[in-house]
Amino acid sequence: STVHAAEIERTFIAIKPDGVQRGLISEIISRFERKGYKLVAIKILTPTKEFAMLHYDDLKERPFFNGLCDFLSSGPVVAMVWEGQGVVKYGRKLIGATSPHNSEPGTIRGDLAISVGRNIIHGSDGPETAKNEINLWFKPEELVDYGLDSEKWLY
Ligand code: PPS
Repeated sequence: STVHAAEIERTFIAIKPDGVQRGLISEIISRFERKGYKLVAIKILTPTKEFAMLHYDDLKERPFFNGLCDFLSSGPVVAMVWEGQGVVKYGRKLIGATSPHNSEPGTIRGDLAISVGRNIIHGSDGPETAKNEINLWFKPEELVDYGLDSEKWLY
């Protein structure tokens, strides 16, 4: 059926330093790609501690905040924007529960991680957060608008 622009949304996904160091970049990208989502922005960078603190600003009162920000800024991160129907919520489903102790087999964390402090991937937790995180990590011109032939078979 026809793709209605209003149904299409975008989410921010980051492969954290542990995922990069463990060689899981292609594994993670392929899970989103095979589901049918479209990669519209990607870059690799080592965030500064200050930048990590902005990214996790909502968590600044949490006891693990400082350690989490040190961890995110400890090495290269793959920052991405993925697009598709329901990608914010379903992207979180692909990722699995925050703690790999609770994440189901079949999810990224369930299959590939053991501890909450090394859970390899971040995904926006809602549509508003997604907008804010995309704006924090990317300039508008870094997002690419394009069609995929597969979309006419997906939707
Ligand atoms: S909460 O408790 O619901 O607000 O937190 P949650 O949304 O589950 O997690 C928010 C991010 O904090 C990370 N987190 C931790 N890091 C280190 N140690 C501990 N104990 C811990 N608990 C939660 C968690 O991985 C989330 O990071 P992102 O990058 O958003 O997945």
